[in-house]
Amino acid sequence: MKFSHILTSTVSLLTLGTAVDGHFTRDRNNAVGPNRPFKPLPHSPPRKKVCHVRSHGDSSRDDSDFILSALKKCNRGGKVVFDANKEYTIGTALDLTFLKNIDLEILGRITFTADTDYWQANSFKHTFQNATTFFNLGGEDVNIYGGGTLDGNGQVWYDLYAEDALILRPILFGVIGLHGGTIGPLKLRYSPQWYHLVANSSDVLFDGIDITGYSSSENEAKNTDGWDTYRSSNIVIQNSVINNGDDCVSFKPNSTDILVQNLHCNGSHGISVGSLGQYVGEVDIVKNILVYNISMYNASDMARIKVWPGTSSAMSEDLQGGGGSGAVSNITYDKMYIENVDYAIEITQCYGQKNLTLCNEYPSNLTISDVHIKNIYGTTSDAHDPIVGTIVCSSPDVCSDIYAENIDVESPSGTNDFVCTNVDESLLQVNCTSG
Ligand SMILES: *[C@@H]1O[C@H](CO)[C@@H](O)[C@H](O)[C@H]1NC(C)=O
Ligand SMILES: *[C@@H]1O[C@H](CO)[C@@H](O)[C@H](O)[C@H]1NC(C)=O
Ligand SMILES: *[C@@H]1O[C@H](CO)[C@@H](O)[C@H](O)[C@H]1NC(C)=O
Ligand SMILES: *[C@@H]1O[C@H](CO)[C@@H](O)[C@H](O)[C@H]1NC(C)=O
Ligand SMILES: *[C@@H]1O[C@H](CO)[C@@H](O)[C@H](O)[C@H]1NC(C)=O
Ligand SMILES: *[C@@H]1O[C@H](CO)[C@@H](O)[C@H](O)[C@H]1NC(C)=O
Ligand SMILES: *[C@@H]1O[C@H](CO)[C@@H](O)[C@H](O)[C@H]1NC(C)=O
Ligand SMILES: *[C@@H]1O[C@H](CO)[C@@H](O)[C@H](O)[C@H]1NC(C)=O
Ligand SMILES: *[C@@H]1O[C@H](CO)[C@@H](O)[C@H](O)[C@H]1NC(C)=O
Ligand SMILES: *[C@@H]1O[C@H](CO)[C@@H](O)[C@H](O)[C@H]1NC(C)=O
Repeated sequence: MKFSHILTSTVSLLTLGTAVDGHFTRDRNNAVGPNRPFKPLPHSPPRKKVCHVRSHGDSSRDDSDFILSALKKCNRGGKVVFDANKEYTIGTALDLTFLKNIDLEILGRITFTADTDYWQANSFKHTFQNATTFFNLGGEDVNIYGGGTLDGNGQVWYDLYAEDALILRPILFGVIGLHGGTIGPLKLRYSPQWYHLVANSSDVLFDGIDITGYSSSENEAKNTDGWDTYRSSNIVIQNSVINNGDDCVSFKPNSTDILVQNLHCNGSHGISVGSLGQYVGEVDIVKNILVYNISMYNASDMARIKVWPGTSSAMSEDLQGGGGSGAVSNITYDKMYIENVDYAIEITQCYGQKNLTLCNEYPSNLTISDVHIKNIYGTTSDAHDPIVGTIVCSSPDVCSDIYAENIDVESPSGTNDFVCTNVDESLLQVNCTSG
């Protein structure tokens, strides 16, 4: 009885649903542009029934049971609607890896509770970088759109993290084991940590994601990466606006065939390969990455590749590593605009190690090859003036075919100097002045 009116299935509702799909295009390949995905994205058949999710309408009451119930009822061929002007509260870690051929149309607002004790005990734990997620969304052929909001209630986490850097802050959107999906348009707000973890997934398109959420106290919202991809292939991230305080997009171990295009990033650490080589004994592969048409404002970097040295070191209390092996290859950054960005390009194999002598003594076990960075224009910040970029390998043996061309970038004082170390400078059409 409790869930009696979750399932409402009428023709008129379906018509209404189609009308409010907004920018959603069921043919995922047609939605991708100007570059095509590395591999065609699978077809998503139309849905045939609609379930509306009930809400207690009271932020102190958990709506998770209503949500699970609607998802189960409309799984395999239906659409679940989170109604406009409704508030939903999630206070339970949800395993949503059973989804198949389903749409989630999010028109209202979904807020995660601020119960930091509950979430630290019950969020999903992923051993990689101690990542945890509020929910794991996975399965096959799942579309999530509607332009509604997911709110991570991050403030309480920003304040707690300032007291204790070892707390486990949940990632707002966990895409874990999803094969075939479109996500967006959606608004994501106040994530406690990264906005998205995309792990063990393939053939997923993110399109029209709007990210922001600043701390209102003196404790900054830290590590709020837009996306981190991990053990995933054929992912597209496009047409999105990201206002955050860490990587705009980050390609973590075993990210392959990833297309990122048409992003506006502000306040970030750039679009980063890595960090890689953090764990001894692990083999990290990042290959076939195309990053195209990005505007980067108020950031520490634009194009960035960060690799730990061949020996272990500590970047900070909760970030330490080095000694892992692997390969970074076929990485392209093309058409970038920068404004107030500290480095236009930063390639390092000494991530996490301040002592360059030590770094050169233990060269990275992770190779970097076939990197093409072209068509960057704009101005850097004064952070490293007169330097506008740095390309540093730990040994000439572990870096090859790194190209830079048409880098039309100036510091506030009008210089365009690069630091280049252990790289073939004849392939770099930049002003290598030191290193
Ligand atoms: C991905 O799959 C592997 C192998 O099945 C599993 O060990 C891991 O926990 C999964 N999740 C993540 C986030 O890697
Ligand atoms: C997880 O955090 C602990 C500190 O709580 C740290 O010692 C450990 O290295 C971290 N593990 C990973 C995989 O980053
Ligand atoms: C580049 O991306 C911006 C959005 O950030 C978009 O307005 C513009 O049309 C894109 N340009 C091309 C050539 O796709
Ligand atoms: C862009 O980032 C800067 C620096 O982090 C921040 O002060 C500013 O508010 C951001 N702009 C927007 C539109 O969020
Ligand atoms: C990444 O891929 C390599 C090569 O296939 C494999 O050896 C390694 O175990 C993978 N790492 C993870 C974290 O899945
Ligand atoms: C390398 O990446 C480009 C996109 O930048 C892609 O077209 C090409 O197929 C990739 N090469 C291989 C060998 O996969
Ligand atoms: C960059 O930061 C400045 C200062 O905080 C802000 O005025 C400007 O709007 C930011 N740029 C963007 C694109 O948000
Ligand atoms: C840097 O590393 C070198 C080589 O291991 C060592 O001799 C030197 O003392 C280190 N410098 C500092 C400041 O730790
Ligand atoms: C790293 O490379 C060195 C040689 O440069 C090798 O002796 C060592 O075994 C490698 N370590 C790992 C973990 O692969
Ligand atoms: C390189 O930088 C130096 C010092 O700022 C400057 O004199 C020179 O013109 C620059 N060269 C090029 C090719 O931009």
